Amino acid sequence: MNIQQIPEHELARLREKAKEITGSQSDYHSSYTELLTRRLNGEPLQYIEEYIPFYSIQINVDQRCLIPRPETEFLIELIKNKSENPKKILDVGTGTGCIALMLKKLYPESTVDACDISLEALDLAKENSEINNLEINLFQSDLLSDVEEVDYDIIVANLPYIPTKTLSSLESEVVDYEPLVALDGGIDGLLYINKLIKEIEEKDIRNLTLFLEVDTSHATTILNNLSHWKQVELEKDLVERDRYIIAKR
Ligand SMILES: C[S@@+](CC[C@H](N)C(=O)[O-])C[C@H]1O[C@@H](n2cnc3c(N)ncnc32)[C@H](O)[C@@H]1O
Repeated sequence: MNIQQIPEHELARLREKAKEITGSQSDYHSSYTELLTRRLNGEPLQYIEEYIPFYSIQINVDQRCLIPRPETEFLIELIKNKSENPKKILDVGTGTGCIALMLKKLYPESTVDACDISLEALDLAKENSEINNLEINLFQSDLLSDVEEVDYDIIVANLPYIPTKTLSSLESEVVDYEPLVALDGGIDGLLYINKLIKEIEEKDIRNLTLFLEVDTSHATTILNNLSHWKQVELEKDLVERDRYIIAKR
């Protein structure tokens, strides 16, 4: 990347970050040069800035976790519109904790559990829980393997969905910086989503609504896998791509 490829609004944000780091409005130039060099090397702007707004909370981000995407903020909107006071929520593959924490903020009376296979991600989610003063139960689990309770009203998951063989064609900003465990969805990209659906059925979790964020190209297959559930809906994201599956069991 060269400096002409960096849009002015990004340069402005880097300048603001340099001012924040140095605590100076005028003597920030060497810090700015350092941050700019990181950006020129392809590091995502959000990792350099170290935090992002997510819906109505602030989330710290670094290389331990995937950077929450705008589509996931819209998933929160969908949950909000389609749920009535859930008492118990589980977020599978919580990453930074963004979904779980934001739901705890929306439903302060609810119990929010959040798991991830990555201990590093769980550390960052814990930091985010403390920063936001939102209490959620974080624990390590390979999908539902260490989930003991079955009385969830909502299970939400934004699991890795990129087919292994296409990982190398992703932008280097993604594949060189974001953790592989947050991206790699196995041979067809559906490994974890299909496994999660199977585990919900094996544990016989009932009376729940499952909210999934999925890759557009996987939507039909996942809908077919869920066709025997009580009610299944597909929702589009803000750019009209099939993106969310909402299923009741
Ligand atoms: C696409 S990221 C999403 C993170 C966060 N939920 C969000 O929406 O920004 C997927 C997350 O799933 C986690 N993950 C991957 N495989 C998993 C598994 N087998 N069990 C639980 N979590 C897993 C990753 O560590 C990562 O944090």
